Amino acid sequence: MLSGIQPTGELHIGNYLGAVRTWRQQIEEGTEETMFCIVDAHAITVPYEPKELRRNIDAFAIDLIACGLDPEKTTLFVQSDVREHTELAWYLASVTPMGDLHRMTQFKDKGEGKDFVSTGLFTYPVLMSADILLYKAQIVPVGEDQVQHLELARETARRFNHRFHGEGGVDIMVEPRPRLSSTPRIMGLDGTSKMSKSKGNTIGLFEEPKPFWDKLKKAYTDPLRLKLSDPGRPEVCNIYTMHKAISADETILEVAHKCTTAAWGCVACKQVLFDNFQKELIPLRTKRAQLDIEKVRQALGDGASKARRIAASTMTEVRTAMGLGSLAT
Ligand code: AMP
Ligand code: TRP
Repeated sequence: MLSGIQPTGELHIGNYLGAVRTWRQQIEEGTEETMFCIVDAHAITVPYEPKELRRNIDAFAIDLIACGLDPEKTTLFVQSDVREHTELAWYLASVTPMGDLHRMTQFKDKGEGKDFVSTGLFTYPVLMSADILLYKAQIVPVGEDQVQHLELARETARRFNHRFHGEGGVDIMVEPRPRLSSTPRIMGLDGTSKMSKSKGNTIGLFEEPKPFWDKLKKAYTDPLRLKLSDPGRPEVCNIYTMHKAISADETILEVAHKCTTAAWGCVACKQVLFDNFQKELIPLRTKRAQLDIEKVRQALGDGASKARRIAASTMTEVRTAMGLGSLAT
């Protein structure tokens, strides 16, 4: 099992509920071997500051470990520390039709109306396919926005296997399947689009309680609930979606009841959500405060060494199957 996250902006509650929390659960279950990648090479496809990227790689590593991605139990590494990702991306580009990349909604969203759209933003999903296929990952836990990219990765594995064969005619690539959390799409505070680092509509997971509450308090709810006495519709409300992810079963039922009967106003409902978030976050904050950046960097180095061993072996198969190289190495 493998997944990845871009080290841009801040880790937000959408990342946590849509992906990172399920990553921790998979590690704790211990039924699958897990790998997590901080995808810095993806982050350079839009304009960025090198110094800020470096800082963010450290910050994301710390935050992810605090969320339970314990390097003793999983392989946590930085994408560009394993050069095979970019190498495989180039090779996979030769079996990926341009038309498929043109259809990717993330490319359309991020590229639309921009003066400068990099080739990297266009071929972003090819690098993502490489991240996954390099390790022959079978399961990729992600939020809903990544399902289209995953479909492309599956298709790419099929195309590669159709065109090239390993020793004895065996398939080299494994088709990955997405795995969604129960809340695969958390909306932004503005209520108009998904919570996203690039849209400024997030609440940082490790934000201090006061700014956390100040933002949550103003978050968009059911647009038809204008007055306190209007009954609300939990099924269209992002706050209810978050309750479903964070609150106890009896609270979820209570929220639905008190919203539809207008017994609670939205602020009261948000206050309960806030309290439950804080409860969940206390142990994560404590863990985060204890982490030492030097040790974290060392763990990333160890993670990269482990990843490199798997990556090198896949690349030997790939180069041989594709007829690349002098065979002198
Ligand atoms: P990113 O921040 O785009 O690198 O995303 C990291 C992970 O968080 C991916 O698996 C995304 O699908 C997931 N994710 C990002 N935003 C949201 C959201 N608003 N709701 C649910 N999952 C999300
Ligand atoms: N594209 C993903 C995102 O924006 C991040 C990502 C890159 C990823 N490589 C991956 C996710 C491999 C899963 C597997 O969220």
